[in-house]
Amino acid sequence: MLARLEGVGKKYQTGDQTIVALQATDLELRAQELLLIIGPSGSGKTTLLSLIGCVIYPSFGELYVDGHHVNRMRANELAQLRLRTVGFVFQQFNLLAPLTAAENVAVPLKLQGLPGATIRKRVDEALEMVGMTDRRKNLPKQLSGGQQQRIAIARALVSDPKIILCDEPTGSLDKDSFGVVMTELRQLAKDGKSVAVVTHDPRLAAYADRAVEVKNGYVNHVEIEALKS
Ligand SMILES: Nc1ncnc2c1ncn2[C@@H]1O[C@H](COP(=O)(O)OP(=O)(O)OP(=O)(O)O)[C@@H](O)[C@H]1O
Ligand SMILES: [Mg+2]
Repeated sequence: MLARLEGVGKKYQTGDQTIVALQATDLELRAQELLLIIGPSGSGKTTLLSLIGCVIYPSFGELYVDGHHVNRMRANELAQLRLRTVGFVFQQFNLLAPLTAAENVAVPLKLQGLPGATIRKRVDEALEMVGMTDRRKNLPKQLSGGQQQRIAIARALVSDPKIILCDEPTGSLDKDSFGVVMTELRQLAKDGKSVAVVTHDPRLAAYADRAVEVKNGYVNHVEIEALKS
């Protein structure tokens, strides 16, 4: 098991108003599994992903990621855990415009302070995995949306994280790119990673092992088959 939430939730205080972005949630993320997270806008999906991804601390409940008790970790320890354990893929790709595809993929490894030769080897492997070796020197603006998303996936997997978290990874993709990206995420799960994907798109159910729905901050399991119909 790669992540466990025991009654985990998140509150935000803005002025005199308290928003419960995520109610007390019990959830597990397992290796070799693609978990779908669905639900309306503002329901708490990104909050849930941010908690699992060690980006924010829970306001209540106990959170364990890769065997570490997140509640008890200091901010710098949590940042290290995040770098080692989690890869993120966002809807808007978040590639750095002045950097080439290969340089973008290298960013997480540079943050880890790895030697140049190691970085080059691992970047080559990651680009190979998403079939983008021949576009390594291109800038993001010279790539299609689907190609940019594959670079973003390469960047997420270059550090060999156990958990890959995706926030609407197919939102701005056409049908063909959509298929390529989802097949790649499916393969990562098959290879032993835990993949969680936030989506509004019911077509993604075909690629998932399990699904939860977030509504008003409450998380509930839903049947994959129910989503497909
Ligand atoms: N940093 C923050 N400060 C205050 N409120 C926040 C913060 N982050 C999120 N919220 C609130 O928490 C609730 C859940 O937000 P969240 O981003 O998790 O929703 P979401 O399901 O990802 O929505 P969308 O589908 O639109 O991306 C929203 O009401 C949002 O306004
Ligand atoms: Mg969101």
